[in-house]
Amino acid sequence: MPDFDMVLFGGTGDLARRKLLPSLFDAHRCGVLHPSARILATGSHPQTTEQYKATLEDTVRPGLEHAPPEAWASFLDRICYVQADAREPAHFDALAQKVLARKPEVVVCYLATAPHIFVPICEQLARTGLNTPNVRVVLEKPLGHDLDSSEAINAAVGKYFAEDQIYRIDHYLGKESVQNLMAIRFGNALFEPLWRREWVQDVQITIAEELGVEKRGDFYDQTGALRDMVQNHLLQLLCMVAMEPPASLSEDAIRDEKIKILKALKPILPQDVAEKTVRGQYRSGAIAGKPVVGYLEEQGIAPDSRTETFVAIKAEIANWRWEGVPFYLRTGKRMQSRVAEIVVHFRDVPHAIFPKPLGLSPQNRLVIRLQPEESIRLYFLVKQAGDTLELTPTSLDLDFANSFKARRAGAYERLLLDVIRGRLGLFVRRDEQVQAWRWVEPIIDTWDASTVPPKPYTAGTWGPAASTALMSRDGALWHEEV
Ligand code: BG6
Repeated sequence: MPDFDMVLFGGTGDLARRKLLPSLFDAHRCGVLHPSARILATGSHPQTTEQYKATLEDTVRPGLEHAPPEAWASFLDRICYVQADAREPAHFDALAQKVLARKPEVVVCYLATAPHIFVPICEQLARTGLNTPNVRVVLEKPLGHDLDSSEAINAAVGKYFAEDQIYRIDHYLGKESVQNLMAIRFGNALFEPLWRREWVQDVQITIAEELGVEKRGDFYDQTGALRDMVQNHLLQLLCMVAMEPPASLSEDAIRDEKIKILKALKPILPQDVAEKTVRGQYRSGAIAGKPVVGYLEEQGIAPDSRTETFVAIKAEIANWRWEGVPFYLRTGKRMQSRVAEIVVHFRDVPHAIFPKPLGLSPQNRLVIRLQPEESIRLYFLVKQAGDTLELTPTSLDLDFANSFKARRAGAYERLLLDVIRGRLGLFVRRDEQVQAWRWVEPIIDTWDASTVPPKPYTAGTWGPAASTALMSRDGALWHEEV
């Protein structure tokens, strides 16, 4: 692991507190980080390093699973606070001096700030010499609000950093099960012959959350589920399921295959939006038995907001492998349970000689679960025990936590370590991002122009009834309804 300085822009923000610092702590505790590596947390207001560390004691430490005092103390030794307001060149001079005085092998500048200050930060980094080839810049989502704004950021950042210095993060790509999806598909001969339109009936990808908008009401109300989850996480998962086998594991071999899928996605035309998409917004309800307020009552949300907190989409890929196979995508806040999974439904047998089990889908299903637990489950039918020819469903289960005892890094930790090591494969290339925006934008535009508001759903359910209808029109059911 190379020696590095990580400059954390947004060091006082929510992401740093909830994900980045805990992930760096885990890597530190496990001895993965170079002994001299430092974390330079920045924020726009003045405070001393000691004051900053005191805030971490209250905000980060309580959320850590194992934080023995020595490990926590030695982790804090790596951290210093630097004031860096993008409007103050002097702050950046001081920051650059700090970094350049030590000359670490690698400098990672993590931009966990609002996207409108990405460009001023990059300008300052370049002005102060912090854009040499050993400097890598990590861009956190949302990268802009639409294709134009994201391309404006990409173009401006591209003036100061080469594409191979830019790490656009999508933390779903760092999840262990997403890596495992690649391993299942391309490390085994078993599934690949079946992984195509002849044998696959449909694919479902769900990311359901129990959480509401929490304290991010202002941001979320301007964003909505399509921009927050579909444009990035769901489309990236779709690419991982649908892409052709890459020639190697090299970063561009994989990204070249993903972009082909994004380009092959059939556009959803304005006249098809009503049929192929569902947008919903939660009303009050209950999560795990506790009452929760509706979206419109959340802090920071306009009382007449039409922002969607739920999306379901029927996507289709126009290529030889997938023609005619629907990819149903679904995500929502305040859903019945927290689950992220990919379900591949295989086709029924061409000729049934056994009586069909009543009320059960006889299809074989491969369920790759990303969370809450990481598992792979293959459903199939066997004969019921005893004097009968009736079939009954059963499954082969692989639970990663039980099967592999080795510690698995969380998604952010894995991706942060990849940046430090200079591995770009799990980061989103500019052309992928452009293509993903091109596909979602017409849906956003059609929704914006429509007078029909999002469909209400009760918090703690699986979303609006229209999401079931989207599937049932094709004779399909969401996995949890089977
Ligand atoms: C983020 C979204 O990208 O992903 C959040 O902005 C969402 O709204 C989060 O809650 C979900 O990530 P995870 O890993 O908790 O499923």
